[in-house]
Amino acid sequence: MPEPVLAPQADVDAEMAAITGAYEQAGVVETQPRRDYAPYRSSLLRHPTKSLHHADPETIELWAPCFGPTDVDPLEADLTVQHTGEPIGERMVVTGRVTDGEGRPVRHQLVEIWQANAGGRYVHKRDQHPAAVDPNFTGVGRCLTDGDGWYRFTTIKPGPYPWKNHRNAWRPAHIHFSMFGTEFTQRVVTQMYFPGDPLFALDPIFRSIVDPAARARLVASYDHDVTTHEWATGYRWDIVLTGSNRTLTETDTEDGDH
Ligand SMILES: [Fe+2]
Repeated sequence: MPEPVLAPQADVDAEMAAITGAYEQAGVVETQPRRDYAPYRSSLLRHPTKSLHHADPETIELWAPCFGPTDVDPLEADLTVQHTGEPIGERMVVTGRVTDGEGRPVRHQLVEIWQANAGGRYVHKRDQHPAAVDPNFTGVGRCLTDGDGWYRFTTIKPGPYPWKNHRNAWRPAHIHFSMFGTEFTQRVVTQMYFPGDPLFALDPIFRSIVDPAARARLVASYDHDVTTHEWATGYRWDIVLTGSNRTLTETDTEDGDH
């Protein structure tokens, strides 16, 4: 099958600029990713085209799966010690607090992450772009929040990677996060980004959240108090599961591969 002809970045930039302009004129704050954000090509095929059928959650959906200390080993929060050798790249810690919309800590709940390695490569058969797989890095971890809602991971800073949305398309470096709250309706699947990434303006997934303040909530802060002497750089990223300041979800728009 012939390779599809991919649009140049300039075309995608123009589409994104037009949508941003229309959004700014509309004057309505829109904090969630758009389901059918045309510059993000596959988003058009990944959302319902008819109105959702509203239903009250059944009783079982009011409770999330419950994971305890016997299910999750503390070592699973360190993605740099899963193999016999040291992974390549910038060792980093990311930590933050998970709260609900009222600022209450979400305690003892499961946080999962998955990510590319320092070269931007996933350990996944669909990722075949020519960057090296690191035999000492799988890119998957999980932990439970503590009694005050804190999570903490030690990992390797992921690299940006190309994808086939358009010609010369590159994703900003990111870590995928899933947070279980205390009920299924609180679950959040999203992506955390790194401050100052030059690819932000070019990325249709990041920009499918059209409100700039909402986008900014997906960007971690560099935190020198988290950085440790001669060991790891540190980033802080807090997550709000419900309420008007909630962290954006991608449940309806993203299959998690990107
Ligand atoms: Fe990704």
